[in-house]
Amino acid sequence: MTKYIVQGGKPLFGEVEISGAKNAAVAIIPAALMVDGVCRIENLPQISDVTMSLKILENLGAQIRVVNRHTVEIDSTCIRSTRTDYELARKIRASYYLIGALLGRFGHGEVAMPGGCNFGGVRPIDLHVKGFTSLGAKVTVEGGFIRAAADRPRLKGANIYLDVVSVGATMNIMMAAAMAEGNTVIENAAREPHIVDLANFLNSMGANIRGAGTDTIKIRGVDRLRGGSYAIIPDQIEAGTYMAAAAAAGGQILVKNIIPKHMDCITAKLQECGVEVEEHEDTLLVRRNGPLRRANIKTLPYPGFPTDMQPQITTVLSLAQGISLVTESVWSSRYRYVDELRRMGASIQVDDKTAVVEGVDHLVGAPIQASDLRAGAALVIAALAARGQSEISCVHYIERGYENLVEKLR
Ligand code: UD1
Repeated sequence: MTKYIVQGGKPLFGEVEISGAKNAAVAIIPAALMVDGVCRIENLPQISDVTMSLKILENLGAQIRVVNRHTVEIDSTCIRSTRTDYELARKIRASYYLIGALLGRFGHGEVAMPGGCNFGGVRPIDLHVKGFTSLGAKVTVEGGFIRAAADRPRLKGANIYLDVVSVGATMNIMMAAAMAEGNTVIENAAREPHIVDLANFLNSMGANIRGAGTDTIKIRGVDRLRGGSYAIIPDQIEAGTYMAAAAAAGGQILVKNIIPKHMDCITAKLQECGVEVEEHEDTLLVRRNGPLRRANIKTLPYPGFPTDMQPQITTVLSLAQGISLVTESVWSSRYRYVDELRRMGASIQVDDKTAVVEGVDHLVGAPIQASDLRAGAALVIAALAARGQSEISCVHYIERGYENLVEKLR
């Protein structure tokens, strides 16, 4: 699809099934490269970032069998190349995980500098490089490729302290260290649910990783990872997006197939805004009948409020009574969608990392353009809540990370 046309202003009622987590899938697929055998991955979301990741693996020589819409079997026994296709790899941000995976298994790898979502600022990978270097690899950038190679067949375990909490660096170092010689300790590690998911995946293939989900991860290198079967966790941000949609548009929805614990940071904020959230074993019932209340939000690494929910919650707050303050402390310039919300009647001023959001009575539909994945999700939420019709363009950003968004909303 190239464009979504949304008739807004109607409350949402119904049930929505949450897909597998994008940010876990885009790490677990490259990690499958490290497995000497067939690994079956279940609950994969059907999104373009996953399709692209699978294409990259296939291009390196992996055999991929699609079992059904959400399950694939990857056989990486006969990988023929450790250099990724330039055009494919630069299309997604998460292609940087291929470096950790290739280094971990083969001691060398070449990957095109990653692309993906541009929030408007720089997305560095210096911490990834620092980790690989500590494990004994030499990392250079040449002709648009990042080249990492160890001068020995296996990397060597090390103690690595991350001075900034980074999801990507934590996962990448975890992969590279899984088959290194000896022990690795990652300190000040990120704690997101997808970090635990990657560790569980690697452990189920024979790795020895302890402490994922805390700030200290201990990895004892193993000689080989063998085949197995693994199901990816539900997507925290996809679930949060539907919760925010119900908050903004009103109504009552049942969000199914989630892990309620992962949603706590989002649930608590929505409740503060006057949204009712009822928790069950693997579902959340989200209801909003009355007015939305203001709240202040600061994005932080997990278990803080996720930066990937910042555009969606700011959209909710644009309809809340009073003035809310949003502070973005993970990405420096993640407010590019605000101009689009203003075109719909929102009153938001941005000063550096802070957005001052003065709630308005209603938004009005308009032609708007997505600038990245979560910005696009925020505009969909705004369009659902707004009076009249909105036309959202550049929806390919949204389809990178949301499976069947239109069908699910219908
Ligand atoms: C991942 C998510 C992204 C999310 C982000 C933060 C994927 C594919 N993407 O991105 O959706 O917004 O986590 O939850 O999972 N940093 C450095 N040096 C580095 C790496 C990061 O300074 O080498 C800084 C970044 O500038 C940023 C912060 O660390 O300020 C967090 O970035 P990081 O957690 O690494 O984000 P990603 O893994 O790229």
